[in-house]
Amino acid sequence: MAKTWKPDSWREYPIRQVPEYQDLDELKSVEIELGAMPPLVFAGEARRLRQQLAEVAEGRAFLLQGGDCAESFAEFSANNIRDSFKVLLQMAIALTFGASCPVVKVGRMAGQFAKPRSEPTEKQGDVELPSYRGDIINGIEFTEDARTPDPKRMVRAYNQASATLNLIRAFAQGGFADLHQVHQWNLDFVADSPASERYAEMSARIDEALGFLKACGITGEAVQQIRETDFYTSHEALLLWYEEAMTRQDSLTGDWYDTSAHLVWIGDRTRDLEEAHVEFMRGIENPIGIKCGPTLAADDLLRLLEVLNPANEAGRITLISRMGHENVEKYLPGLVRAVQKEGAKVVWSSDPMHGNMIKSASGYKTRPFDRILSEVRQVFAVHHAEGSYAGGIHVEMTGQDVTECLGGAQAINEERLSDRYHTHCDPRLNANQALELAFLLAEELKAFRGSSVERKVAAVG
Ligand code: PEP
Ligand code: CO
Repeated sequence: MAKTWKPDSWREYPIRQVPEYQDLDELKSVEIELGAMPPLVFAGEARRLRQQLAEVAEGRAFLLQGGDCAESFAEFSANNIRDSFKVLLQMAIALTFGASCPVVKVGRMAGQFAKPRSEPTEKQGDVELPSYRGDIINGIEFTEDARTPDPKRMVRAYNQASATLNLIRAFAQGGFADLHQVHQWNLDFVADSPASERYAEMSARIDEALGFLKACGITGEAVQQIRETDFYTSHEALLLWYEEAMTRQDSLTGDWYDTSAHLVWIGDRTRDLEEAHVEFMRGIENPIGIKCGPTLAADDLLRLLEVLNPANEAGRITLISRMGHENVEKYLPGLVRAVQKEGAKVVWSSDPMHGNMIKSASGYKTRPFDRILSEVRQVFAVHHAEGSYAGGIHVEMTGQDVTECLGGAQAINEERLSDRYHTHCDPRLNANQALELAFLLAEELKAFRGSSVERKVAAVG
């Protein structure tokens, strides 16, 4: 890596998973246009998230990160944003209440548009076209026109991210996220499921607690944490022309921040030390995520940490393991041990989605819910055994009533996958499955936190 970093120094490095734009003049003019747009997030907000993630790294809070695999122009609507936001709030409250643990909420929202793909092209019959890479790059329709990368899509993605973030900020701070609204976050189609019953019981207990607090003079008017919430945005920083254009120097500190989101992450396919994505990420001060799949060697992970977090600051790095349910035991302990031995301060989060994809008999990409749960349980067990803290979950989910992942209490089966399979990329948990997962996590977290307190007491005694 070169010593000096600039927002554009990544351009001198080999790069993967980005399109080849044909009209470079048009690309340049889009970069100039985006460079003049207001930032989507502020440096101070990214610093605040970093501080909250430092709390997670120290075992005092839990990270919930979730949203679409890929946001799309077609599915952009206030209702979709509201419903995903509702489910994330429900998951967060299940965790906060069930495990008595503060939850840091981060959406895969307001900018999660660019997708890495396993094949550069897609073949249908005799026709071969570039793969769909997310709406910020090209269109999903299988035509030459749609699949040609178009730089102008970056401007549309920016505008959609901006409108999405505006609504999220209003929801988080304008009364919607007030704890007194906990009943209203439940979605109609979730009613009558076991998770929903559990949610109703929990909401009643929260009401009771709020009533008690009110009697003591602790109300939403007096206490901000009761009437509003912190909610952050994140996406994979894949399309570096876009990320560079959104990168600005903070006037307070002189540091560089990628203002396209609070947190950005490096995907499992673009985390090579000698390549462009790592070069870009090392110079920005946002909290960053690194996806850790089965091919990541412990030595390479340590080198990545050295390059991306030389001062070993807690809150800077979130490691998102995504091994697949059959690989957790095989690959995760080695990484955890290496990190522990080095004394590297990280948040360990679990993405139980990306290693658990299968193709259904009818050809749908899907993820069996039991494999997702199995990965999460094993991740908790590994961290428990290694004496580290399983501090977060990273999921692809939606507030829409989709049938994309098999199983769960609704027992979505092969035949039902086609009912409402709407994703633009990978299959997402629906609201029911997401809530079920959150309750299970709350139990794991509670048990783990209980035993780590015991361990600390035993160590002192
Ligand atoms: C994703 O999070 O959508 C993704 C592509 O993940 P990964 O880089 O872990 O494969
Ligand atoms: Co995905």
